[in-house]
This record gives sequence, structure tokens and C-alpha cells, in this order.
Amino acid sequence: MTETLIDKLDRPMRDLRISVIDKCNFRCTYCMPAEIFGDDYRFMSRDELLSFDEIMRLVKVFARFGVEKIRITGGEPLMRKDLHTLVKRIREVPGIKDIAVTTNAIFLVKQAALLKEAGLDRVNISLDAIEDEVFQQTNGRGIKTSPVLKGIEAARRAGLAIKINMVVKKGMNESQILPMARYFKETGDTLRFIEFMDVGNHNGWQMDEVVSKKEIVDSIHAELPLQSVDPSYFGEVASRYRYMDGGGEIGIISSVTEAFCSSCTRVRLSADGKLFTCLFASEGYDLRTLLRDDVSEKELISTVQAIWTGRKDQYSVDRTLGRPLPEKKIEMSYIGG
Ligand code: GTP
Ligand code: 5AD
Ligand code: SF4
Ligand code: SF4
Repeated sequence: MTETLIDKLDRPMRDLRISVIDKCNFRCTYCMPAEIFGDDYRFMSRDELLSFDEIMRLVKVFARFGVEKIRITGGEPLMRKDLHTLVKRIREVPGIKDIAVTTNAIFLVKQAALLKEAGLDRVNISLDAIEDEVFQQTNGRGIKTSPVLKGIEAARRAGLAIKINMVVKKGMNESQILPMARYFKETGDTLRFIEFMDVGNHNGWQMDEVVSKKEIVDSIHAELPLQSVDPSYFGEVASRYRYMDGGGEIGIISSVTEAFCSSCTRVRLSADGKLFTCLFASEGYDLRTLLRDDVSEKELISTVQAIWTGRKDQYSVDRTLGRPLPEKKIEMSYIGG
């Protein structure tokens, strides 16, 4: 049995989020605005991306530190067509209890069954509107809802657990809060509303475009009464609410109006192998160079331990308190949601 390293950390590290690609087939206006991420934007080359072998070396180290949950993100992670082979390898790592993918669902029709067979537990699917006209605007590519809804159905048929993520931005899609709630109450999928965040440098974020957790809950509660529910695990980012008529639940991710940094158990690996402890960081630690220099397991372990125990980031708290913030931040498409 490999020795556990959990007692070497001063706070738990539970959730490793791995971005496997920085490209996406969408151009959501709040994430990858088309004016910036256009045809001449330089995405990473194959060689810059970590290989699955390199990712696996790191996953095994993180599992020893107590990571139980792996989330694979992007960009759009299913653009790596052989993703199921990575899932299969992660499934075999002792200690990993939960494997999830965050996706826009377009490629699930092709890949859901393969992913489930490889051992994937669940998918979180981004969908910001149920009406085509609104969705076509938010995804920046004029894509209608039907290919996403077909992807959701494919995930359901494959037996994957499903959550839906909706970023809410004033002037973009607040008209969709109730239609989305009604739609997914019917299907029984948990819908999570995400406050529009100032992630990255290009989405023109302004506080007055944030629709707060309170506004979202109040507007749903007025038509479909809700009651709050305890978190399902320590460090869960979404606050949970259940419909009082027993018709399932929703979640709200309120990183702007109610920061949750003090319970942050997440660590993030970018597609080119940099390690970040915060979604809003400016710099990451380059693990790819260590991997390609073929350093020992011991050295990887001491590096990860030093980064985690030295972390002081609490960006959302600093924003709330009006403290100075980093000028340049990493992009969401680069580090994953
Ligand atoms: P579950 O494992 O299903 O609970 O999902 P999750 O909420 O951990 O993952 P998901 O990728 O669905 O996250 C949804 C969104 O929450 C992300 O896209 C981010 O917008 C936001 N989010 C997740 N983690 C953090 C975090 O550490 N800090 C901040 N500020 N936002 C986060
Ligand atoms: N604010 C909030 N969430 C965002 N995401 C991307 N950009 C933002 C933003 N500016 C999240 C969404 C999406 C995931 C891939 O990234 O949750 O579902
Ligand atoms: Fe792509 Fe997701 Fe970003 Fe939209 S939010 S551009 S689907 S990575
Ligand atoms: Fe964690 Fe940074 Fe998000 Fe705070 S802002 S919860 S420290 S990732």
C-alpha cells in the first residue's frame, strides 16, 4: 500500500481540476469573447499540452495527498477525442472516488457511452438559456439549444449523473432564470446558477452585471417555493435549495456576493501543466518542466506540498473587502471552470 501524505498538509486538498485543452467550439461572451479568441488567437500546440502519461503521473501524486475527486475541464475537454482512455486510467488510481467532466455537451452524443464505460461518474453541462435566441447570443457561435439537449439525453441514456450550469449575467440571460428552472424541474436535473465572475481579463466584468444569489433565489421562490438544504460535502461551492413540492433541487454558486475561499479545497492543473491554487491567480507553478526533466516522485511530492501549504490566495474575499487585486489574471478557458 502506498503511504498517504494527507497529514503533511495544513488544510485538506480534495478536488483536483484538470484542464486538458484550452480550445473550445463555443465562444461564450463571458468566457471566450469572439473578438479576442478569434481565428488568429494562438491556442496551445499538441506539444505544449500535457500528455495523458504526464497527467497520470501527477494524478497519482495528488491522490496520495488526499484528492478524491477529479474534474476534467477545458476549454472543451471532449475536444480531446480519446478522453475516455484518460478516464479509464484515472479510475484505476486508489483513493479517487469521483470523476466528473465539465462540458458544453455537444460531443456527448458521440462520447457519453464510451466515457461511462471507462468509469466516468458524472457530467456538469453548461447551458445558459433554454430559448434559442438567447442561447445563440450567449454562446457566440449561433448554436441552438437542440445539440446541447441531445447531449444531455445521451448522458442520461449512458447512465451518467447530470448537473446543469447556467452563468447568469444581467442584460444577457436573466430572462431565462425561470424558464430554465421550470424546464429542469421537469427533467429532474439539478440546475446550478452561477454568478457572473470577473475571471480572466477580457469579459468586461462589471459589478452591476452580476445577478446576485439573493435575486435568483427570490425570483424562483416567488413561483416555485424553495427551502435550503445542507451542503453534501465540505467545500461544496454551490449552496443547495430544494423545491418544497419535492420536485428536485437547484444550486447557486455565489462567488461574488458570498465568497467561499475559507473552505477552498480545490487545486487546478492547466492544460500545459501549470499548477494553480486559485481561479484568479496570475502565475502558476510549472510542473511540466519537472515532468519533462524526469524528476523523482519525491521531488514532485515536495513541490506540491510546498505550493499547497504556502497558499494564501482568497481572491473572492479580497474582492469583497475591496483589497488590491492582481492586474492580470489567467483565463477561464485556460484553467477550466
Ligand atoms: P460539483 O462537483 O458537481 O459540486 O461541481 P463543481 O461546482 O465543483 O464544478 P463545476 O465545474 O461545475 O463548477 C461550476 C462553476 O463554479 C465553475 O465553472 C466556476 O464558475 C465556479 N467555481 C468552481 N470552483 C470555484 C472556485 O474555487 N472559486 C470560484 N470563485 N468559483 C468556482
Ligand atoms: N463567470 C462565471 N462562470 C464562468 N465560467 C466561465 N466563465 C465564467 C464567468 N465569467 C464557467 C461556467 C461554465 C464553465 C465552463 O466555466 O460555469 O459552465
Ligand atoms: Fe467554452 Fe465553457 Fe468557456 Fe463557453 S464557458 S466558451 S463552453 S469553455
Ligand atoms: Fe478558491 Fe480562489 Fe475561488 Fe477563493 S477565489 S474559492 S481561493 S479558487
